[in-house]
Amino acid sequence: MSSETTAMAAPGSRLGEPLPHGLLDDAERLTREQLRELQLDRLRWTLRHAYDNVELYRKKFDEAGVRPDDCRSLEDLARFPFTTKADLRDTYPFGMFAVPMADVRRIHASSGTTGRPTVVGYTDNDLSMWADMVARSIRAAGGRPGHKVHISYGYGLFTGGLGAHYGAERAGCTVIPASGGMTARQVQIIQDFEPEIIMVTPSYMLTLLDEFEKQGIDPRSSSLKVGIFGAEPWTEEMRREIEERMDIHAVDIYGLSEVIGPGVAQECVETKDGLHVWEDHFYPEVVDPVTDTVLAQGEEGEVVFTSLTKEALPIIRYRTRDLTRLLPGTARPAFRRMQKVTGRCDDMIILRGVNVFPSQIEEIVLRTPSVAPHFQIQLTERGRMDHMVVRVEARPGTGPEQREAAARSIGQGIKDGVGVTVEVAIVDPETLERSLGKLRRVKDLRRA
Ligand code: DLL
Repeated sequence: MSSETTAMAAPGSRLGEPLPHGLLDDAERLTREQLRELQLDRLRWTLRHAYDNVELYRKKFDEAGVRPDDCRSLEDLARFPFTTKADLRDTYPFGMFAVPMADVRRIHASSGTTGRPTVVGYTDNDLSMWADMVARSIRAAGGRPGHKVHISYGYGLFTGGLGAHYGAERAGCTVIPASGGMTARQVQIIQDFEPEIIMVTPSYMLTLLDEFEKQGIDPRSSSLKVGIFGAEPWTEEMRREIEERMDIHAVDIYGLSEVIGPGVAQECVETKDGLHVWEDHFYPEVVDPVTDTVLAQGEEGEVVFTSLTKEALPIIRYRTRDLTRLLPGTARPAFRRMQKVTGRCDDMIILRGVNVFPSQIEEIVLRTPSVAPHFQIQLTERGRMDHMVVRVEARPGTGPEQREAAARSIGQGIKDGVGVTVEVAIVDPETLERSLGKLRRVKDLRRA
């Protein structure tokens, strides 16, 4: 890591005042050409490591008729087979590990919605690289040595808590390992310990914001300056809501356990224009989720990742199911950006033939002033037709007329913007389930 200090000052600034450029890693100073050279070296090592040490990869490569040495340029990666969550499940628990178990220093797992969890492993070097990537992400978000970082991602098998934790320590910050839950106490701790940074899911941030207000504390008066939000999709409207109510910078962090955990990509606070993918360790492609072909920069599809340095669990062309597009770098010119993830292929609801993403509904609900930013989507049946009810919380003190007007405006917004007719129910304040971590927006109440 470079020791050059571009700006050591604490951000100090609030919303609207750009933060100073952070400390940069050596890799962040590479040119695109230098980065691509490094990537090719690392990619060739990864393919060889996977082929030699993981039976599933050997079998898949052989079936596809490709050998690690066939990769002579980064574009050649497209000739190699994809890896899916099913591959990890089929080799449960440790079948895709490429090193002896004695070299695996830590295990994480993601529960998913059905079936066996997905298990991932890390060597000492993997853990160190991961901490470096989260530390780089925290610096890109405006974090500096000496800042206190309040971590409300859950600790445990989920990668959020521990991933953020070691990264914040690596960045020279002081960690407050709050984990998820006990919301009233979290607010007390923030008030008393005065962290500058919070790392939490955006939906749990809303829960915390409500708790501040419930305790009679103006959230804008807190010590927090930056929120690093991820683990679930969130919209620009949500950014605005949180930034205004808390007077903090809200930036996006992306990652998934199969690739490493949080810290695969991070939004820079000075531009807030999508997430720079830390491409010296994670190589992104965007593919058409139906035809599987690699798409050009700028085209929207499913992002696919290949690890470039991971030892315990090399991952080749992992199908994330996350929808986004790749864009050229800005604040970190060598690294491509990915646009904010709009949703997952599997989150997409097909309502009477129209594709609907929860994020589209979020945008419309959060633009409606008389309702709170809490909503839930219920799928039911009306006769033989699928029916969608969007349940939205009223803000305290709104009367029946205002509620009716809000329901009409949201319904019309969804009809105009998404192209479907849905039922909108405005419910009383504090009646919808609150997030304690990753939020489940959609309740499917359809039979079978
Ligand atoms: O959620 C890792 C993480 C923890 C990322 C904390 C950021 C912060 P998994 O539990 O394996 O890992 O879930 C990964 O969560 O494929 C996306 O669908 C979703 N996701 C993660 N970050 C974002 C984000 C962690 N910033 C899955 N925007 C991914 C949208 C996200 N979706």
